[in-house]
Amino acid sequence: MAFPQNFLDELIARSDIVDVVGSYVQLQRKGSNLFGLCPFHSEKTGSFSVSPDKQIYYCFGCKKGGGAVNFIMEEEHLSFPDAVRFLAKRAGMEVPEEEGDREAGRKRQRLLDLNRDAAKFYYQLLQQPEGQAVRSYLERRQISRGTAVKFGMGASPDAWDVLLTAMTKRGYTKSELLEAGLAVQNKNGGLYDKFRSRLMLPVIDTRGDVVAFGSRVLDKSEPKYMNSSETPVYSKRRVLYGLNLAKKSKRPNIILCEGNLDIVTLHQAGFDNAVASMGTALTVEQTRLLSRFTGEVVLCYDNDNAGKIATERALQILNNSEFSVKVLQLPRRLVNGEYVKQDADDFIKLQGPDAFERLLSGSENGVEFRMAQVAGKHDLGSDEGRIAYCGEISDLLAGLSSAVEREIYTARAAEAAKITPEAMKLEVQRAFGQRLAREKRAQLRRDLNPAAQLQPRERTLRYENVRSARAEEGILRLLLLDESLFPSQPPLAAEQFSSSLLGRAFAALWQAKTDGRTVSMASLAATFSPEEMSHLTAICQQPESARNGKQALADYIRIVQTEAAKRTGGTQTDPLLAATEKYKDKKGTGGKQHG
Ligand code: GTP
Ligand code: MN
Repeated sequence: MAFPQNFLDELIARSDIVDVVGSYVQLQRKGSNLFGLCPFHSEKTGSFSVSPDKQIYYCFGCKKGGGAVNFIMEEEHLSFPDAVRFLAKRAGMEVPEEEGDREAGRKRQRLLDLNRDAAKFYYQLLQQPEGQAVRSYLERRQISRGTAVKFGMGASPDAWDVLLTAMTKRGYTKSELLEAGLAVQNKNGGLYDKFRSRLMLPVIDTRGDVVAFGSRVLDKSEPKYMNSSETPVYSKRRVLYGLNLAKKSKRPNIILCEGNLDIVTLHQAGFDNAVASMGTALTVEQTRLLSRFTGEVVLCYDNDNAGKIATERALQILNNSEFSVKVLQLPRRLVNGEYVKQDADDFIKLQGPDAFERLLSGSENGVEFRMAQVAGKHDLGSDEGRIAYCGEISDLLAGLSSAVEREIYTARAAEAAKITPEAMKLEVQRAFGQRLAREKRAQLRRDLNPAAQLQPRERTLRYENVRSARAEEGILRLLLLDESLFPSQPPLAAEQFSSSLLGRAFAALWQAKTDGRTVSMASLAATFSPEEMSHLTAICQQPESARNGKQALADYIRIVQTEAAKRTGGTQTDPLLAATEKYKDKKGTGGKQHG
């Protein structure tokens, strides 16, 4: 949904960047800016800056930047509308929502409140005499009090209506309890508590809302786990257990496991980047969710047959995505001459966190898995199959940076292809040589073309005409620096900008000025993606003086016009004409849909 512009402007005006960032990052003043340790990457010296004048933040290390809304999107991992709602709550402003939305929103909020109250109720019971059985179960599983608190664990007592009574006393109706999946109806229409005598594991989403519960029995009875059914606030396809904590992790990837208690044990052992998909195969929705937090997923499913199948299915989904994927294969355990299944929880309890860390960092298993995948693609019984296998596998092996690894896996690949290790080694060396040559050529290109280094980080934002783009950046910088520099007529049409991003930014600033709104970087968050905002913020970081601003602006404009004229074959476009042309064009094609 789109928020009214005046609402957004007021929200931004009321969300001072120093206050917003200051509640997450310790800032120190240095000159006109404030500095601190960047919350978005690990660092020891602060390269994260906040400018109270421009109302923006920018990290010189990881090059992320933007206004207050962008900061909340990045830090709290929220979408734009949710970040706006988050800031509105903070600023005590009411969010204008549409009537239908509002009614549905109220109902959702009631269920979320109920879930939260229920979670608190179970949490308190854990400390009471009724929680004794669960407390000893936690002890048996070596789950510390601190970990239980971090996960908001609780105890459901051995009774039929304790939660029902407590929640109806608080004003929740029976139908709300049913709808939240906390109560169940018997044949006679009577209600009883769904969760009884169980360890309660609230499922908390990335916004911090309690959306559901997982629960485990304390003995060997069935079902072992009982999880909330689907509700208006819970769709298991869209949630990952532990992601509310893992999203804050500084580790470079996310570990995906099968079991809720694997996650608990991993976090307790320092692997605060672990999440679980709660008994379902990984879904596309979950991968989309994950992509907001990480580019690398480590699959760590149980090492039994079901786990292998789950890994295979997850790989199929992840192979169609941008993720880099690793497979952490837990070794099987030999007990009395038989192999027994082991999950992450078992492994850490038996071998300790260091051993798990080694498994995690060793790309070994990832290579093995990928080698097995390549082998699976070819018929190693035929000559053609073996030749094709050797070609593909040598590319894979040449990509390994460790010489030792290359040697070990080369020998293994030779065995698989039934050729001599020497022949395989030659193949890999050839591929390795090609790889080095490729990298050298790429480096040379970069060295010869310093302009490329000034390019935006995002590939899709690359400048086609660096000379024009520099001038375009200058125009934006000057207009943001000193509003009085805005000419009375648009000196350029957005189309004359060589970079469509910079053209759109110019048009947006121009529109704000014409509407009499604040012309600021922060106000662009509604229209530009986080990557675009980071780049626009970076532009504002470069030095520009408002002295002689008028002359500088005129110079920049002339450069852009000249470059634009070169593109269109010499004819200078009349800005107003260009604008109407564009309008006609949009109407003709139906325009771009706004989502
Ligand atoms: P324990 O270590 O025995 O406590 O279990 P686990 O955490 O290792 O889980 P397991 O590997 O047995 O199962 C993986 C996940 O599947 C669990 O965390 C649950 O979310 C789900 N699951 C397991 N058993 C059941 C069940 O009986 N019913 C339902 N609905 N889900 C289950
Ligand atoms: Mn387990």
